[in-house]
Amino acid sequence: MLIAGNWKMFRGPDPAALVGLDAVICPSYTRLRDCVEAGLTTFAQNVHWEWEGAYTGEIAAPLLLELGVVGSLVGHSERRQYFGETDETVAKRVRAALDAGLRVIACVGETQHEREGGETEEVLRRQLAVLEPHPELVLAYEPVWAIGTGRTATPEMAQEAHAFIKSQLDAPVLYGGSVKPDNAAALLSQPDVDGALVGGASLEAGSLKAICETAARIPS
Ligand code: PGA
Repeated sequence: MLIAGNWKMFRGPDPAALVGLDAVICPSYTRLRDCVEAGLTTFAQNVHWEWEGAYTGEIAAPLLLELGVVGSLVGHSERRQYFGETDETVAKRVRAALDAGLRVIACVGETQHEREGGETEEVLRRQLAVLEPHPELVLAYEPVWAIGTGRTATPEMAQEAHAFIKSQLDAPVLYGGSVKPDNAAALLSQPDVDGALVGGASLEAGSLKAICETAARIPS
């Protein structure tokens, strides 16, 4: 069971409050060093596919590794929605990061419009088709309509999507989208839910800890 906290473009809690927690933390770039120094398992929120180069505003895998960062999120829906990330650029980032020795959490998920149009499986199939299994690759199913909205997928919806995802690509699958201490147990108990990618609730040390404690009680 893997719990990852995505702090997005928020400052996030004091890393000292999370010492010893069995979780991955994905802070802003300026807080990576603090998290690494606190001994947290620290991931970036994105990573470029080139080792170095003229790519203003991007970050390269070797620079992350030099800092002690051990992995990265890739293809978060906010990157896809607001910053032009495509299935092709996601694939390039994932491949390069894994080749460099980083762990990767690659995010997939459908929009509200796509779900209502009955296109969920088609969208997931397309997003997953560009990825290949790798021992350090974890997927996150994050239905876009459930992110930051307080609208969580029901445990049954999550289970159905996770089972479909695993039929396409053999990898552990985290659920993400409004995971909170009070809904974590029901979601994490689903047989194909292997953990959670937590946004808003990870900004508060107490609620991230509560979710980790719930995860630790669920037999894998
Ligand atoms: P949320 O975000 O928990 O605030 O919905 C999840 C995510 O975007 O990773």
